[in-house]
Amino acid sequence: MPEAGNILVGLFGTGGFARPVMPLVRPSLGADCEPVFVDRAPEVARLNGYRVMEEAAFLAAPAARYFNVAIAASGLRARIAERCLAQGLLPLHLQAPNAIVYDGNSIAEGAVLCANTMVTCNAVIGRFFHLNIFSYVEHDCVIGDFVTFAPGVRCNGNVHVGDHAFIGAGAILRDGTRERPLRIGANAVVGMGAVVTRDVPPGVTVVGNPARALVKPTGH
Ligand SMILES: CC(C)(COP(=O)(O)OP(=O)(O)OC[C@H]1O[C@@H](n2cnc3c(N)ncnc32)[C@H](O)[C@@H]1OP(=O)(O)O)[C@@H](O)C(=O)NCCC(=O)NCCS
Repeated sequence: MPEAGNILVGLFGTGGFARPVMPLVRPSLGADCEPVFVDRAPEVARLNGYRVMEEAAFLAAPAARYFNVAIAASGLRARIAERCLAQGLLPLHLQAPNAIVYDGNSIAEGAVLCANTMVTCNAVIGRFFHLNIFSYVEHDCVIGDFVTFAPGVRCNGNVHVGDHAFIGAGAILRDGTRERPLRIGANAVVGMGAVVTRDVPPGVTVVGNPARALVKPTGH
């Protein structure tokens, strides 16, 4: 665990993901740090008992040391992360006290593992992964960078998920095999409640059971 003290930890975002992630900062780092929300244009000075700092003020603060980005939009998350890293800030791994991570996993920097989540064994997980409440990643999965799992995602064994993919609430991903993993392509979107039984090509949105590409009528 990194050293704590009189240091600022910036959690980027103030929305519906950032507020429930904020309570994970102190358990992840230690009681002495000051966690603050960071926003481009703060509308309030305090939120849920924490200071809200304007982004430029946070980046210029001598006490600013650690950060994470609690923003589901993965492109924006990536841009903020790269800006902070370029400034020399350290990404803070955030993990709820009751999140479970078993053996042989590799989880890259900047992950957020919310309450009641689980990563079982031998998964390889990329940078700035969001694992929202009640979601799991089973054995031998490979998850790319800036991937988002909404609440209640069931990602079974040997599934490969590409960079920037979004998996909606309650979706179920069928297990693959070591020789033939189930593949969700980069930038794909899996709709809430989908049951994914076949590979999803990059950039495609799928919904339903069994999941099929969402085709919108022309004119939408
Ligand atoms: C799949 C999704 C991305 C599509 O969003 P969209 O492109 O804005 O699509 P629309 O809302 O215009 O819906 C288009 C059609 O697909 C249907 N549809 C949308 N989402 C669906 C889903 N998850 N399952 C089945 N059908 C769905 C709509 O009913 C609509 O059908 P219609 O044209 O017959 O009325 C979105 O609905 C979704 O599931 N997002 C994930 C939400 C989530 O998990 N949130 C968690 C936040 S933490």
